[in-house]
Amino acid sequence: MSAVLSATGPTAPAWTPSSWRACPIRQMPSYPDQAALETVEARLRAYPPLVFAGEARRLKQQLALAADGKAFVLQGGACAESFGEFTADVIRDTFRVLLQMAVVLTFGAKVPVVKLGRMAGQYAKPRSSDLERIDGVELPSYRGDIINGSAFTEASRLPDPARMETGYFQSAGTLNLLRAFAGGGYANLHQVHRWNLGFVERSPLAARYQDLAQRIDETLAFMGACGMGQNAPQVNETEFYTSHEALLLPYEQALTRVDSTTGDWYDCSAHFLWIGDRTRQPDGAHVEFLRGVRNPIGLKVGPTTQADELLRLLDLLNPWDEPGRLTLISRMGAEGVRRHLPPLLRAVQKAGRRVVWLCDPMHGNTISTASKIKTRSFDAILAELRGFFDVFAAEGALPGGVHVEMTGQDVTECVGGAHRLTEADLGDRYETFCDPRLNAEQSLEMAFLVAEELTARRRIAAS
Ligand code: PEP
Ligand code: CO
Repeated sequence: MSAVLSATGPTAPAWTPSSWRACPIRQMPSYPDQAALETVEARLRAYPPLVFAGEARRLKQQLALAADGKAFVLQGGACAESFGEFTADVIRDTFRVLLQMAVVLTFGAKVPVVKLGRMAGQYAKPRSSDLERIDGVELPSYRGDIINGSAFTEASRLPDPARMETGYFQSAGTLNLLRAFAGGGYANLHQVHRWNLGFVERSPLAARYQDLAQRIDETLAFMGACGMGQNAPQVNETEFYTSHEALLLPYEQALTRVDSTTGDWYDCSAHFLWIGDRTRQPDGAHVEFLRGVRNPIGLKVGPTTQADELLRLLDLLNPWDEPGRLTLISRMGAEGVRRHLPPLLRAVQKAGRRVVWLCDPMHGNTISTASKIKTRSFDAILAELRGFFDVFAAEGALPGGVHVEMTGQDVTECVGGAHRLTEADLGDRYETFCDPRLNAEQSLEMAFLVAEELTARRRIAAS
């Protein structure tokens, strides 16, 4: 493949890492000092890539399996990572809840799980309004730590390009620890008992998890007794990939490099990048940018998406129908999923396009309490997941996985779950910088329920 590729055939305008600059752009911060922005961009262009093209290609192969129903994707992490929470504990706890969820799905539903963190770069946030007003004072909205600060002061809300450099280094530090955990023994299946977090041990789910861990131990001991490689790499380590929304295009462009083995362009800020629901205009800058990099990419698909528009986006983003290249992330809301998803799924099926479909049961279910706290109900989240699985069963199609906002911390941000968190509990530990996340216990509970759904549906399909 040549370095410059065309989107839809020989007549499509050539793509370059900067061709997005000629397109209409949404959600772009206005930097007051253009020279300072250019200085940071030049520095980032000279820094080493954070991931390698070969890793992104490997993830693409695994996503191709998910498109065929032979693997299940678990994509999860914070809505927004924050510079202030850049600690080993926060990274480790999110990583280990993802491992627990993955093991519940792998062992429970007998399906390989592709683990994709919303981590090591998930710093930029789209906002519904450019301005925020508090007590008559109006300031630019907070757009994520890679752009401005969350404190409601004029200085903090001014977009500062130096934050991009901090974002790069914090991504590098996070990725370094994740790589060490994934390959250095922490993710060893013999350690499965030890992944349980202290506060989950006091939860109604602890016994269920320990029972599963016990069964895994027995399976490994049995494999060992039969001489079946209980110390194989598949048991001792795991593959873990990173992802974030490719929202801040000057940053993404600066980390886009030619892969020396293929001559193709890759955005080396993460293995997987996605386009958000607010920036998916076919003629817009975000679609233009991601169409030209060869990473596996995602596209959020919300309730306003029309089938013809989705097919146009499929042509732009995956003109060769390459398996594993494109993941559609449905985020319709519990109320809307049964109505909005079927026509889109049918259109994609009818066009014979190979995509991975994930269910994001979070972003269509955000509500505001009477005291104006953003929350999500665990019941609505599960209702959307069930609706998603039902739609796929009705169309004879295979769901590819889930996309969740969660954390390893013991937060109280979503209501419901095994501990029946109520609106009154939200004040206890509400720590998110953006959307409300599932806590470790709610995440684990969701994984058990998804594993049950997958198993039950497989039984129905087989009978
Ligand atoms: C997100 O994933 O945090 C997000 C903003 O999602 P969406 O683009 O689907 O609203
Ligand atoms: Co979010």
